[in-house]
Amino acid sequence: MEFQGKTAISTGAASGMGLLFAQNWADLGGNVVMCDVNEEALKTFAEEINSKKKGKAIGVACDVRDYFQVCAARDRAVKIFGSIDIMCNFAGGTAVRMQKVDHTQYPEFPDVPIDVYDWGIDVNLKGPFYFAHAVLKQMREQKSGLIINIGSITGQEGDGYGMDYPTSKAGLMFGLTKSIAQYGSKYGIRCVCVSPGPVLTRAAMANMKTLLGRAAEPQEIIDLILFIASDKGQSINGENIMIDGGRNAAGRRC
Ligand SMILES: NC(=O)c1ccc[n+]([C@@H]2O[C@H](COP(=O)([O-])OP(=O)(O)OC[C@H]3O[C@@H](n4cnc5c(N)ncnc54)[C@H](O)[C@@H]3O)[C@@H](O)[C@H]2O)c1
Repeated sequence: MEFQGKTAISTGAASGMGLLFAQNWADLGGNVVMCDVNEEALKTFAEEINSKKKGKAIGVACDVRDYFQVCAARDRAVKIFGSIDIMCNFAGGTAVRMQKVDHTQYPEFPDVPIDVYDWGIDVNLKGPFYFAHAVLKQMREQKSGLIINIGSITGQEGDGYGMDYPTSKAGLMFGLTKSIAQYGSKYGIRCVCVSPGPVLTRAAMANMKTLLGRAAEPQEIIDLILFIASDKGQSINGENIMIDGGRNAAGRRC
């Protein structure tokens, strides 16, 4: 696979899979705009990528909840690299975990302050929606592009406590991805949702069951995305692809 001269935007790029994607993309010769709220980490990782002298990276502080910051990130990408060939929406996570909500203080869903869930819906759902709106303008002009949304097994299963997360992820897996594909096809633009089961960006994910008896390595998720972006993946469009060790197929067996 080779992505020489192609430009990616990766959100959540200061950590986990967003970072790993950026590193892989640049290793394969592509340019990458790394977006995150963690400016310091972005700077360090972008420098690290640039020191390898393969693809180029820039770090752009961007809160995906803010449409103006999203548009500014798109404009930086186009100004510096000239195109946006792939947009990957990695920024996300369950609000109760990301915001360190104390389960004992707020034991059930209606007890958790609503602004916690607002954050979750804004980052996980509105962020990718905002980025779609922003980058599709550019991709329409180019008459090409690929948008990757990141769903989750939880979007399929639900979660009676962290409800923002499955609600948002299901929105990406079944609504936004198909809708972008429907709009984009006449301009040669594809959209695919990649929905992992447990991934070892955190050790705790090893406790989640799958039919294979293991969580995925982050690289396995990135490899799938790179395949979708490559010449061999060009027919994949408008679909949600689970990559979950068979957890979704397991029913009660897990
Ligand atoms: N790890 C898993 O087991 C798993 C499973 C299914 C789906 N996912 C999804 O994959 C994606 C990446 O997961 P990960 O475990 O690699 O994530 P991570 O927790 O390692 O990284 C998330 C990044 O998002 C950034 N971020 C948070 N709020 C932001 C905002 N408002 N604007 C911009 N950036 C923001 C954080 O700073 C962080 O760098 C997420 O969408 C997650 O929901 C993960």
